[in-house]
Amino acid sequence: MKVCRTIAEYRAEIATFRAASESVGVVTTMGALHAGHMALVERAKSGNDRVVTTIFVNPTQFGQAADLEKYPRPEAQDLEMFRSAGVDAVLIPSVEEMYPRGDETIVETTRLAHVLHGLVRPGHFRGVATVVTKLFNIAQPDRAYFGEKDYQQLAVIRRMVRDLHMPLEIVGVPTVRESDGLAMSSRNIRLSPEHRKEAVVLNQCLDHAETLMGTASTVAGLKADVQEMVQGRTSGKLMAFDVVDPESFEPVEGPLNRPIAIMMSVEFGEGEDAVLLIDQREIVP
Ligand code: PAF
Repeated sequence: MKVCRTIAEYRAEIATFRAASESVGVVTTMGALHAGHMALVERAKSGNDRVVTTIFVNPTQFGQAADLEKYPRPEAQDLEMFRSAGVDAVLIPSVEEMYPRGDETIVETTRLAHVLHGLVRPGHFRGVATVVTKLFNIAQPDRAYFGEKDYQQLAVIRRMVRDLHMPLEIVGVPTVRESDGLAMSSRNIRLSPEHRKEAVVLNQCLDHAETLMGTASTVAGLKADVQEMVQGRTSGKLMAFDVVDPESFEPVEGPLNRPIAIMMSVEFGEGEDAVLLIDQREIVP
């Protein structure tokens, strides 16, 4: 596996694959790899001749400097994981190269970035869309792989690729879960043992939604149940429980009798130690 610290090195490596007419899949990450990332790599390997990855903790998608500073950066371990998974090349660029001095270009989905999680984290999806565009321009892959756990992120990227006619396919990969159902995330290691136990509530709420689908229950009833579950079973704070149309992302009200997507987030802990966990599920009656 070629470890590239500059864009030029990475491009030169990918050019050798292209010269041999090999297809290229990319997995973009911020490092702190876990089984969820490795599922993306596995999927990329099955659909392409070559798999390239990126590790870049993107400053423009973090709201608070403290969150950015605290983001784990276990580089040696990450490289070992990519190496043993058979990744061909990884780019670990500097912030200075990714965001050249005096840069002024951003990419933003004007509506999707400003609803749901975008309301809680202003500027987040602009940062994601901008860095992902840069990484696509750098790697010029045939396919790019993203986890379905980050449901709104996946929707933003799909919309951006469609709107800007970017010549690649976006592949969504199902969420990988711990044995108790908690969605794998680089943030999980920041949970205290007590919060880690409580965090299973996200998956329990989504399971509950699934059991109500097609019954006489309504979205309002489901929301009340979820509030009670989070409050009654955990010390966490329900930050969002949005029930939306999977295509338009418009809020859904009334009976639970049509396809919906649920996006929820719960915050555990206080102040600088707070950890925001997200999860999602698409449910078809
Ligand atoms: O999902 C992530 O890890 C990041 O948001 C991404 C897509 C690598 C952009 O920095």
